[in-house]
Amino acid sequence: MTTIQINHLKYQYPTSDFKLSIDQLSINENLVAFAGQNGAGKSTLFKLLTGLVRPQAGEIIINHQGLAILSPEDRLKTIGIVFQDPSSQLFNATVEKEVAWSLLQTGLDASVIADTVDKALATVGLTDLKDKNPFDLSLPEKKLLAIATVLAINPQIYLFDEPMISLDWPSRQLVTRIMKQLAKEKHQVIAITHDMDWLAANFSKMYVLSDGQVKFEGTPETFFGLPALSAKTGLLTPRIMQIAKEVFGDSRVYLTPEDYMKKHSGN
Ligand SMILES: Nc1ncnc2c1ncn2[C@@H]1O[C@H](COP(=O)(O)OP(=O)(O)O)[C@@H](O)[C@H]1O
Ligand SMILES: [Mg+2]
Repeated sequence: MTTIQINHLKYQYPTSDFKLSIDQLSINENLVAFAGQNGAGKSTLFKLLTGLVRPQAGEIIINHQGLAILSPEDRLKTIGIVFQDPSSQLFNATVEKEVAWSLLQTGLDASVIADTVDKALATVGLTDLKDKNPFDLSLPEKKLLAIATVLAINPQIYLFDEPMISLDWPSRQLVTRIMKQLAKEKHQVIAITHDMDWLAANFSKMYVLSDGQVKFEGTPETFFGLPALSAKTGLLTPRIMQIAKEVFGDSRVYLTPEDYMKKHSGN
């Protein structure tokens, strides 16, 4: 079981007034979501979690080891990230080479690399496109390819920055299934999302960031029952809640249409 512990973390970009400040935060669950308005600091926190960016103060401890002292190879095996814009992490001539690239840096056997690449491409359904140029893929396919590059490394912790953005319905379902499977296999899966319907349907633990600070930690059921807090942090409630309120004047918490049905049946 992976644990992430953040202590007294402070970060500021040299060129902006924005300040990220997280005093104490533990992430122990296998599947968690970070929500928050644009500019709240979600992607900045992810950059700090990958070690790509160093904080000015404080520390991030992963499994009792400071992130700052991990070697680049250990960091690669510990934390992988799928960026919001998949193009930013694609730079090889073919889909197959793209997935093999990080593995080649780890000095694995060629046959092991080939098998691992095949498996990662099969998981995201891109096997038939392996000889294509990544830039000729559709946006959902690019995102799936970026996910395959991380699956090939199979880090302990997977970070997904806005994974649902630019996906069509079948690939949304596929990516959600992959994330849940990873969590079941005891990886830690952390997603940033704006999509409150997706969050409410698939996560039982969420954190809310606002102005660079964590303003809530708990279940979606609790968060959406606090309308003043969701308004203050600029987050909508799931659509089913909005509809129940507008149509029936019902202000209770409903996470999904199924949840609504359940709460209204047989009693
Ligand atoms: N590279 C950067 N240089 C300067 N300011 C940045 C940079 N990246 C983000 N910011 C600023 O930091 C704040 C938080 O951004 P970000 O972490 O991307 O928010 P979110 O992902 O929640 O939308 C914003 O005000 C943004 O303008
Ligand atoms: Mg962002």
